[in-house]
Amino acid sequence: MSVDISAPIGIFDSGFGGLTVARAIVDQLPGEDIIYLGDTARAPYGPRPIAQVRQYALACLDALVDMGVKALVIACNSASAAVLADARERYSIPVVEVIFPAAHRAVRVSRTGKIAVLSTQATATSGAYNDAVAAAVGVELTTAVCPRFVEFVEEGITGGEELLHAAQEYLAPVIESKADTVILGCTHYPLLSGVISYVLGDDVTLVSSAEECANAAYAVLADHGLLRSETTGHRRFLTTGNPQRFELIASRLLGDFVSADTVGGKLSYEHIKVEP
Ligand code: DGL
Repeated sequence: MSVDISAPIGIFDSGFGGLTVARAIVDQLPGEDIIYLGDTARAPYGPRPIAQVRQYALACLDALVDMGVKALVIACNSASAAVLADARERYSIPVVEVIFPAAHRAVRVSRTGKIAVLSTQATATSGAYNDAVAAAVGVELTTAVCPRFVEFVEEGITGGEELLHAAQEYLAPVIESKADTVILGCTHYPLLSGVISYVLGDDVTLVSSAEECANAAYAVLADHGLLRSETTGHRRFLTTGNPQRFELIASRLLGDFVSADTVGGKLSYEHIKVEP
């Protein structure tokens, strides 16, 4: 396999959530170019059947591979759960996903073995987190599905009474389970970590699938000799929806990270048509 070390890293999510992974990757590797693809026209993925998530996700990943990326980061738990095995066989470049890195970290940091994962319906139905912790001794995993969280984020909402009430409802079983470690098992959720930790309290450790995925991406690039030494730091944001709206919501959620004024390299927002 010959991969161009100066090619961009391809990062994919259903919408805005994967930007939390992209930001964590750029924090660690500011010189790398990234192409981010958000399938906002078809988000949310969470309520969809796994077969459909798989079809949409593979079409988006194919589009990134056709653009010549040097590695793929599936910055979406729902898509990771649906396509991981296929993606590693389908592409000749390294593929990084979000679920195993987060599950691994949670198992390491939990003192009691009582772990909870907050996720979309698709991720919960797949059982991917249960599989990921299955080999760990003494772990009890509670799953809480938080469907409206993604809707709030896709609208750029990270505060307010309605969100607080939804969080109190979704997190009640997690509090009940006495989990000491909670995995944010959807890349949209780190954008809601304020309300989530407010409801769960200080004693609970939050594990972000976004941060862990970024660490895994660094490790995979290093292992394959794909970390570049020269710096450009171009960021290209592609959306299957409206690029103006994407830029507006992305800047509301992530501020400087997605703003042209603060980026050394080039930054663009573009529409992409992806036919599943
Ligand atoms: N950010 C995604 C995840 O990690 C998907 C959210 C959605 O589209 O429902 O699961």
